[in-house]
Parts: sequence; C-alpha cells; structure tokens
Amino acid sequence: MRGLLAFAALFVAVLGKETFEGHQVLRITAKDEAQLALIKDLEDMIHFELDFWRGVSDVASPVDVRVPFHSLQSVKVYLETKAIEYTIMIEDLQALLEKEQEEMEAAARAGGARSTDSFDYANYHTVDEIYDFQDMLVRENPNLVSKIVIGQSYEGRNLSVLKFSTGGTNRPGLWIDTGIHSREWVTQASGTWFAKKIVTTHRSDRTLKCILNKMDIFLLIMANPDGFAYTQTSQPKYRMWRKTRKPNPGSSCVGVDPNRNWDAGFGGPGASNDPCSQIYHGPRANSESEVKSIVDFVRSHGNLKSFVSIHSYSQMLLYPYGYIRTPANDQAELHSLAKKAITALASLYGTRYRYGSIINTIYQASGGTIDWTYNQGIKYSYTFELRDTGDYGFLLPANQIIPTAEETWLALMVIMKHAYKNAY
Ligand SMILES: *[C@@H]1O[C@H](CO)[C@@H](O)[C@H](O)[C@H]1NC(C)=O
Ligand SMILES: [Zn+2]
Repeated sequence: MRGLLAFAALFVAVLGKETFEGHQVLRITAKDEAQLALIKDLEDMIHFELDFWRGVSDVASPVDVRVPFHSLQSVKVYLETKAIEYTIMIEDLQALLEKEQEEMEAAARAGGARSTDSFDYANYHTVDEIYDFQDMLVRENPNLVSKIVIGQSYEGRNLSVLKFSTGGTNRPGLWIDTGIHSREWVTQASGTWFAKKIVTTHRSDRTLKCILNKMDIFLLIMANPDGFAYTQTSQPKYRMWRKTRKPNPGSSCVGVDPNRNWDAGFGGPGASNDPCSQIYHGPRANSESEVKSIVDFVRSHGNLKSFVSIHSYSQMLLYPYGYIRTPANDQAELHSLAKKAITALASLYGTRYRYGSIINTIYQASGGTIDWTYNQGIKYSYTFELRDTGDYGFLLPANQIIPTAEETWLALMVIMKHAYKNAY
C-alpha cells in the first residue's frame, strides 16, 4: 500500500505537473484607442487562457500578459496582423520560477530561524514560516508587539494582525496590509521586514518613537493566506494565483478578487461578474471573509488615521478614487503627500514611482480596498504597487526584497508621520 501510494505520488509529481514551460509574458503597447480596444478584446478570448499581469488601461500604459504556450502563436499573429506593437517581457517564465523555487528550497534546507534575528529576510518564505515569524516576534517583544486574530480565511487560516503599541487605550491607529493578492510575493516579504524594522528602531528612530508614543501600528502581513498557500503548492502553475480560494457555486472557477470585493462602487466598471475572471468581484460586497474581517476590524477600531494596502508590481503610489472620476475631497493633500513619499522612496536607490488617483493612474476599478477605507473617513488611504516595472513582474528575485522593503519603508514613514501630525 505504501509503495503504491509512493508510486501514485510520483506519478502525480511527474506527469501531473503543469509547468509554465513555453509560457511568455508579453508587453503590449497600443498606439491609439482603436488598438487599445483590440487588446481589450483579448480579455474575452477565454480559450487563449491569458493571465493579465497589468490590465488594459490607457494608451500610455503597456499591458503585460502571460500567454500559455498553446496560444502563443495565435496571440502573436493576432497582434501582428493588427500592427500592434509588443515585446517579449519574460522569455522563459519557467526558468525564473525554477530559480525562485531553488532559492526557497536552499533557504529551507538551511533550517528554520530560531529567532527573528536569524530569520532570512532576503528570501521568500512559506505561509507557516511567516506565521512562526510573527509568533517569535511577539514572544521576543512582549511589551511592544501583540497578535490580534481578526478572523479566519475561507480555509480556516488565521488572519493575524501584528499590533505595535507602547500602551495607552483607544489610541489612534495606522494600518498596513500586504499580500491581499497572493502572487505579489515581494509584498508579504516586505511586510515581514517592516515588522522587524519597527521593533529594532522604535527607540532609536525619533519619528517612529513619537508616533508610537501616541498611536498604534497594525500590520497584516498575510491578508490572503489561502491564496498565498496555494501559490506555494507543488504545482508550479499555481504560483500565479491572485484571488481568494472560496469556491463559486455554479462555476468550476474558484476565488474572488479581494481588491474588488469592498463596498465602494461594488460591481461597477473595472470588475468582472465572471467567476473565472481574475477580477471577479464576488457575489456581493464583503462576501470574502478576508475582506469582511478587515471591514469589521476597521469599524470596531473606529479611529484609524491611515490605511495603506500594499500590492505589486508597477512602482506606483495611489490614492482614491478608483471607482469614480470625482476627485477625492482631499485630493490636493493626498497628491502632495504622495509626492513627498515617493521622493523619500527614490532617495535610497533611485527607484522611480508614478503617483496619482487610481482611476487617473492605472484604470477604473470598483470595489477596491482604499476607496472603501477613504469613504469611512480614513483620510490617508493609499495603495502601493511595489517593484518592479516589468523585468520580473511578480517573480521579483529574492535579492531585491530588502532593497524594496527599505525604500518602501521611507515612504511609509512619510505617510505615517503626516497622519500623526494631523491626528492631533
Ligand atoms: C488561530 O487563532 C486562534 C485564536 O487566537 C488560536 O487559538 C489558534 O491557536 C490560532 N491557530 C494557529 C494555527 O495559530
Ligand atoms: Zn495586487
């Protein structure tokens, strides 16, 4: 029996493995509105099984799309016959993936960290390693860090928020989340680094010290733990999973886009009602427990001053709105603060960011996180899109984790300091 099981496992491992062999990521650039519409038509050609890494926006913004081997020729012919320009952004996706996998396995062989000092911040980690990291951080810093479980994911994983607090009651709060889109691995990795940064500098960094004298910081590193776990299964093709993992009744497609599931313009333009879409908004607002748990937390806390939700990739800092063209009431202030934040970010390694409202900078998107938080009165609501601009996309090499986290931290500090100054 054991032998048979082992054989079955081997069989699945060898024959059942669906890799990204032969997949390429293309960068498509429209030269006018007519070409943009033709690119948009590709979204509806379901049989191509395209995976949009950067969706259709405007003529100035390229579209990045992963094309499976079986449709590569057809897609290229489609683009060429319509004289639409494209370049091959990632020639051999499988090779990148294997490199990432090897690095992770090497790190795992080196053994788990015994403390957050020996934790390997320059590598990607599994869901369980990050849970362990969080628990270690709490144990090591009982007077600063605690863990709040705000709910469970669909598959029953804890949605664990790290709370950084020097005491007091009912202090105003600052929120940061990472990983709500599970494949955006540099975000969870950066979140882990931020957590350690807070405990190591909360006394030496004057600004952080002032902030933590009056406010609490909440950090949710794995906002979509089921999706994240799914990106780490032995099936390489699941590495590109973005959504939650809740089944959709009546459909064979699983999951909801947790950044289209909020109660702000829910179900409007820039979200899909097709459960198979990467931007499926779900059956109703807050249908996903991953979203509802944050909503409940935000409401019960009642005094968050900033809310930053971190994604990748494209190097952008965005503020509301995404679902309507109407400028946010605080647009001028949000804009100048964004500029200050990205200037600080660029000061470290020269990484350049674009900034602006979601609708003007990327595209119309409804049901997004920060539109909802802004409408709840959390003025400093921002979304980051971290590195890079497309050399690696979601497969950002691990040696860029720390530089990415370091530069992002500078921007976060600008936003948190401003929120602090305006809270009193
Ligand atoms: C999840 O959270 C609950 C409630 O805080 C806790 O009792 C449980 O041990 C946690 N589970 C894991 C796997 O950490
Ligand atoms: Zn995202």
